Amino acid sequence: TRHLLSIDDLDVTQIEEIFTTAAQMHDVQRREVKKLPALRGRTVINLFFEDSTRTRSSFEIAGKWLSADVINLSAKGSSASKGESLRDTVLTVTAMGIDGLVVRHSASGAAEQISRWIDVPVINAGDGTHEHPTQALLDSYTLTRRLGSLDGKHVVMVGDLTHSRVFRSNVKCLAKLGAQVTVVAPPTLMPAGVSDWSKEAGFATSYDLDRVLPEADAVMMLRVQRERMSGGFFPTAREYTVRYGLTRDRLGLLQPGVPILHPGPMNRGLEISADAADAVDSVVLDQVSAGVAVRMSVLYHLLAGEPALNEGGQA
Ligand code: CP
Repeated sequence: TRHLLSIDDLDVTQIEEIFTTAAQMHDVQRREVKKLPALRGRTVINLFFEDSTRTRSSFEIAGKWLSADVINLSAKGSSASKGESLRDTVLTVTAMGIDGLVVRHSASGAAEQISRWIDVPVINAGDGTHEHPTQALLDSYTLTRRLGSLDGKHVVMVGDLTHSRVFRSNVKCLAKLGAQVTVVAPPTLMPAGVSDWSKEAGFATSYDLDRVLPEADAVMMLRVQRERMSGGFFPTAREYTVRYGLTRDRLGLLQPGVPILHPGPMNRGLEISADAADAVDSVVLDQVSAGVAVRMSVLYHLLAGEPALNEGGQA
């Protein structure tokens, strides 16, 4: 069975195949007749144990535009709220005859664990602070449409890196595509062990956003995840914005035309100002739109029988 649990599951050829198919899906997205018959007769379940606006609805739209039947199940309205275990929940929905499972969970490693329990494709839609592979794919796809090849391009990623699965998937995906990445965070939100990891994975780290911004070909702002901070939020919100927010003044440090990304949901006024979020070079809504096309592509490659992902298969 083939899965998408991590960017580690993909080589550069497979990423490029996903982008090529996504570009075709993007064309479908623009036309009046949006449905393709590729997944007719297949059933996909979106199993979400954490809240979501973009990922869940775009997986639903993506599945429906490929003619799959899509079921949404949230932990809040399911028997998980009565204490049913993750394993029993997953085995129960799989026993109904699904063909694919999209899962979001607060525990890092949950998607991989689920993939060991069932023999239908599992797509990780975000697991704790571990990975969010389809987000990284749609971010890189958005960047390639804007910048062309990412080989040698300098992408600056800024924010709450400690808690960010988007950062972890993105550094892997961008490295595979040849981008040069600098990550910026306050010392308190820089992950433990980042210096060894950055040497191994080939990205740079900085605490000085103002020094890095003029050298960026793209800037990706990441959300401050206050819901994952048990011990309060240090630095304070105001200190964070002053040093690390993409404020109106800081926009002036960017070269003209540099795209501004944010995976959403945005904390306007904290990590990103309204001036930046709504700037002419903001591609935040392009990312959302690309999310449908990329997820159509991923569903197609995993469920329509194309041998694009995990060639050779996982047990
Ligand atoms: N970017 C992202 O994963 O957004 P949602 O939490 O709304 O799905």
